Amino acid sequence: MTAAHTLQATGLSLGYKDRTVISGFDLAVPPGRITAIVGANACGKSTLLRAMSRLLTPREGQVLLDGKQVHRTPAKELARTLGLLPQSPIAPEGITVGDLVGRGRNPHQRALSRWSREDDEAVAAALEATQTLDLTERAVDELSGGQRQRVWIAMALAQQTDVLLLDEPTTFLDVSHQVEVLDLLTDLNRARGTTIVMVLHDLNLAARYADHLVALADGRVHAAGEPGDVLTTDTVRAVFGLESQVITDPTSGRPLMLPLGRHHVTAPAAPAVPAP
Ligand SMILES: Nc1ncnc2c1ncn2[C@@H]1O[C@H](COP(=O)(O)OP(=O)(O)OP(=O)(O)O)[C@@H](O)[C@H]1O
Ligand SMILES: [Mg+2]
Repeated sequence: MTAAHTLQATGLSLGYKDRTVISGFDLAVPPGRITAIVGANACGKSTLLRAMSRLLTPREGQVLLDGKQVHRTPAKELARTLGLLPQSPIAPEGITVGDLVGRGRNPHQRALSRWSREDDEAVAAALEATQTLDLTERAVDELSGGQRQRVWIAMALAQQTDVLLLDEPTTFLDVSHQVEVLDLLTDLNRARGTTIVMVLHDLNLAARYADHLVALADGRVHAAGEPGDVLTTDTVRAVFGLESQVITDPTSGRPLMLPLGRHHVTAPAAPAVPAP
């Protein structure tokens, strides 16, 4: 098992030019657990992940990894402990899958040192885990959206960090690959104690896979805790402005949110807990 790292944000204020996105923000990521962040479009999820991974400098407050400010930690040193899969990563033109995933090993390479067998093994394991081994020689810009997304996940896995931040890792993936990626991240968490923080739009998958669910609204934490306490009709209404029904997922016991749109709602679904 890897060492459990503490990652927290305190008094964080983030923004771009004259736009403040997040202010007075505090978050403690549970070490060695899976945290999912949910919230409406443009509420600041990606901005938060960028700040937590040092790409965006806070206006106020700080992000602390093991008590040390990430913005004062050299990028390469940080990248040996904390990895980020951004929402829309851009691959160098013409790069092959194998080379891109290999770049995940950069933080582990020292000056003058050669590519090692350990690097080879890390890349091969990442390609295999994401079912992209057969794409190794292909150019990344020629892949389908879902194939490309899995290749980016492979690159993040090859980095072998104890803390992994992923911004919508399941976008572009078909349903079986979504489940496969979330199972894979859970394997990583269970086998190596990797701390995982991921932004997800699918509330039901978030509630199923997260130990800790954080719902953001208006640049603040609206609710955080166990999925059963956080994914409620009140939260869905406050965070997304959507009426819904929340029942118990019969396969996991976690909450399952059914959106109530203006159409196709013929009968209320069974309540989560039968009335006494
Ligand atoms: N580089 C940038 N320059 C200026 N404004 C930005 C920049 N990036 C994001 N923003 C703005 O900051 C706000 C938060 O954006 P962010 O990308 O963090 O949202 P998000 O919660 O990740 O949304 P989504 O669910 O659509 O990915 C938005 O209003 C967005 O327009
Ligand atoms: Mg985003």
